[in-house]
Amino acid sequence: MTNDGNREFTDHDEALARAEAGVAALAAERNDRWYPRFHIASPGGWINDPIGPCRFKDRWHVFYQLHPYGTQWGSMHWGHVSSDDMVSWRREPIALAPSLEAERDGVFAGSAVVGDDGRMWLFYTGHRWANGVDDADGNFEVQCAAVSDDGVHFRKLGVVIDNIDRFPDFRDPKVWKQDGLWYMVFGMSTRDRRGQVLLYVSEDMRIWHFDRILYRHPNPSVYMLECPDFFPLKDKEGNESWVLSFSAMGERPNGFANRNHHNAGYVIGSWEPGEAFTPRTEFRMWDWGHNFYAPQSMPAPDGRRLQYGWMSAFVPPIPNQGDGWCGQLTVPRQIRLDSYGCIRSNPADELEGLRESTVTFAPFTLGINETRTIVEDGGAVEIEMEIDINHSTAEFGGLKVHSTSDNAHTCVYYDAQTHRILIDRHSNARGDRGYRAAPFTSNSLKLRVFIDSASVEVFVNDGEQAMTSYSFPSEGPQAVEISAESGTLDIPFLRVHHLRPIGL
Ligand code: FRU
Repeated sequence: MTNDGNREFTDHDEALARAEAGVAALAAERNDRWYPRFHIASPGGWINDPIGPCRFKDRWHVFYQLHPYGTQWGSMHWGHVSSDDMVSWRREPIALAPSLEAERDGVFAGSAVVGDDGRMWLFYTGHRWANGVDDADGNFEVQCAAVSDDGVHFRKLGVVIDNIDRFPDFRDPKVWKQDGLWYMVFGMSTRDRRGQVLLYVSEDMRIWHFDRILYRHPNPSVYMLECPDFFPLKDKEGNESWVLSFSAMGERPNGFANRNHHNAGYVIGSWEPGEAFTPRTEFRMWDWGHNFYAPQSMPAPDGRRLQYGWMSAFVPPIPNQGDGWCGQLTVPRQIRLDSYGCIRSNPADELEGLRESTVTFAPFTLGINETRTIVEDGGAVEIEMEIDINHSTAEFGGLKVHSTSDNAHTCVYYDAQTHRILIDRHSNARGDRGYRAAPFTSNSLKLRVFIDSASVEVFVNDGEQAMTSYSFPSEGPQAVEISAESGTLDIPFLRVHHLRPIGL
């Protein structure tokens, strides 16, 4: 397979030029009503997973799965942006297009690292339909590599891990270096459709050896673990844990959890090179909103672990598909272990650099069923807010975002009966509806809420939980209101930041 797989069926540079033209044609017709101001998106076309976030030659790089010829998932390419501060971004040329037989139907997700030679290496999945036409007979997938001196133009090295047994799903390599050796994890589905993560090892990044099955999902309904990520985190005392992140296909809804089409989460455990991974937790969700999938992380030079996710669009209606573009990444998050050994996900510190102007409100109490407008016409805002639950009697209350004159809005609400934070889209005029509800433990409630043209991200109590959902507003001014239902709401702290665009 390898020789055949490495044969070019088209010239890579020409394939890249065609893809650029495809994106430009869609971008020229784009309707900007829901185009994000401070989230990474493609100027035209469809995007999904963030891939290969890394730092190379003093710049941050983020790639993403891109379909340049339409606003639905299709022939996958690698789109690319870069930044020196994670606040202002620059578009880079499309990095990879399908050109080898092994990737005829798509250059799928993967990762980027700086190699021993100082170059940027991309590892990704070459994808073909098993029957050459569609997914009726499944996939045929292998792991491939490409290198770059400048981090912008890539030369393909071809297949590095073959799929000799033709497992039906075999994709999404994540590579890192540890104690002098290179490691790779990727997801696979066994013949009896169980989701597993495989671990490979290499001395030179070119020749890879199977090490072990790192993880087999205990739930027989979970048939594939997409986009695995595997990295260490230390708590304040310096105790190290290993986090195995994956995007589970086939996980069933369980109360408030796993309610999305596919669900991204992690297990925490311990691991040493050459040893088995021993999980110590159950599966936990990265995010409780409607639209979060396929997160990937990178180490920052200052020791932080930074992560991007895809605001997934699995459930119709997806109203921006008629606008020439579809799909955006989340804001970058920094993730850490707290003193209970639990993960905290917070917006990356760099995002404070987006704040353009700030309004701080004096403490106030909303009366029974009272609503106040705190932003007349939202645009791009971050809201920091505290609700004093002990001094509030409201059954339900918080923010109404994207609130328009037709009474459409999305609620970011505290629900006293379930003691949960809700993103509730039952009053949305456009897009998928429904609500999601995240748990939180304490009696105080601190929220950081990021509102962009068509999305809302909520960080609860210093990152105890996170929630990400699309919210497609109606036309006209889009207010942010604060509202109390069936009782009062005590707001000791409220601050609104207007955010500047990221330059894309
Ligand atoms: C996750 C995923 C990956 C795959 C890519 C294809 O959303 O299905 O497993 O590599 O998207 O676009």
